Amino acid sequence: MVTAHISATPGDFAPDVLMPGDPRRARRIAETILQDARLVTDVRGIEGYTGTYRGEPLSVLASGMGMPSVTIYATELFRCYGVRRVVRVGTAGGIPASVGLRDVVVATAAHTDSAMSSRRIDGVQLSHAASFGLAAAAVQAAGGGSGPQVHIGPVFTTDHFYLERPSLFEQLEAHGTLAVEMEAAGLYATAAAEGGHALAVLTVSDHVRHAEALTPAERESDFDRAVTIAATALIT
Ligand code: HPA
Repeated sequence: MVTAHISATPGDFAPDVLMPGDPRRARRIAETILQDARLVTDVRGIEGYTGTYRGEPLSVLASGMGMPSVTIYATELFRCYGVRRVVRVGTAGGIPASVGLRDVVVATAAHTDSAMSSRRIDGVQLSHAASFGLAAAAVQAAGGGSGPQVHIGPVFTTDHFYLERPSLFEQLEAHGTLAVEMEAAGLYATAAAEGGHALAVLTVSDHVRHAEALTPAERESDFDRAVTIAATALIT
């Protein structure tokens, strides 16, 4: 079966998928950590690859940006390609001062301002929760030694990248929210609806309180570290 947005055939995807937002990052992950990677789909330039990681089958597919996009790809993977676990590897903006650039956020839950989840079950505000097993494995994979500072907790998944909302971030911080990004809640809701498991492992690339941000080179090297954490969590 070929779905509306993925041209792979059944069996082309491994049960475990790493999901960056950017298609170029998907290719870079395939080139750097997968063995015997082969391209399995590239509809709209959203590239998917399957290979092995430390001997285990692993795929990578980009999600594009935002909840509608990640929801489309995750639904097709879970529903039509036998995928069981998806780990988003992406960037996020830090919210409290304690979450610094380059830190890693393991998103155990995701608040959202998107209307998508409120449409799933009439009258119900769904929780967007990560897989406990994947989150625990990621925390273990990130721990110790000279690894990054790791924060574990809720993030905020927003539909707006450019809306200025300082008071919103203050309120989210008062509710223990660690970072802002645009996909985790959609991925978690999709995993729940499709009987799958999901997690987001996020690299802090910028901060809502100040203009400082990682350079493109820093983004890539720090991002690689989060990819290793995510891939290790999947084989644990
Ligand atoms: N907002 C939304 N998404 C993001 C951000 C941000 O500040 N940084 C990285 N992804």
